[in-house]
Amino acid sequence: MKVTDTIKGLRKHISDSGLSPLALVPTMGALHNGHISLVEKAVGECPITVVSIFVNPTQFNDKNDLKNYPRTLEKDLEMLGKVLGEHDVVFTPPVEEMYPEEDRRVFTFGNLDNVMEAVHRPGHFNGVAQIVSRLFEIVAPDIAIFGLKDFQQLAVIRELVKQTGNKVRIIGSPIIREKDGLAMSSRNMLLEPAIRKDAAIIYKTITSAAAMLQNSDIPETKQYVKNEIEKPENFELIYFEIVDDEQLIPIKSKREMNKNMKYFGCIAVKAGNIRLIDNVEI
Ligand code: PAF
Repeated sequence: MKVTDTIKGLRKHISDSGLSPLALVPTMGALHNGHISLVEKAVGECPITVVSIFVNPTQFNDKNDLKNYPRTLEKDLEMLGKVLGEHDVVFTPPVEEMYPEEDRRVFTFGNLDNVMEAVHRPGHFNGVAQIVSRLFEIVAPDIAIFGLKDFQQLAVIRELVKQTGNKVRIIGSPIIREKDGLAMSSRNMLLEPAIRKDAAIIYKTITSAAAMLQNSDIPETKQYVKNEIEKPENFELIYFEIVDDEQLIPIKSKREMNKNMKYFGCIAVKAGNIRLIDNVEI
């Protein structure tokens, strides 16, 4: 695999390969097997894959979160070396390469701006849209692969592609879980051991909530989720919402459910000082 930190180098590797179609897997590094599953999918779909590793400052609404975000480039490259081929490229730009000037673009995503992560992390999706659109411009991928753990991010990116008329095909890839069910996330490595152990409660609770909805309505189910999540010390429920997978409109009662639509239970939890998200299809 090739590794470059410049746009010029990246474009040269792509054009020298003469290969297409091209797959892009955008990441912020601190790779785990969830990322590797996205890369394997990309390699299976296209003769050339670009994996970007860039901790995008514009999507962090909390400076400490940006500072503490794990950075493990050497290990990331080692992991990628096992799945990428000789023509594939790892793009590791510094901030100045991606943002030679401040990015002042403002994106609007309708209801996607008004729910869940958008409410609790103001400006986050604007930053995601800035970096993803910039990567699409630089890499010009035919397909781009994102994890379904970031459920709202995937909806925002689909909407971004729709609004910009980009022809890139967006693929959502299933959540990969640890043995105890915790969704793999770069943030998991920041959890203190006791908190990490208790974090298994998140997936356990949302799967039980999905089952509970067969016989109960949404307010009782939400209350159950809050009670379960807040049982371990230092766990706080940020939100649990049942939403459709297009506009992500939270529903308040099962009567609002439309048989032709898919629904997901989406959760955000503060586990110690770390924010974790997960979701499950209802
Ligand atoms: O999901 C992520 O890791 C990031 O939000 C992304 C899509 C790489 C943009 O920085």
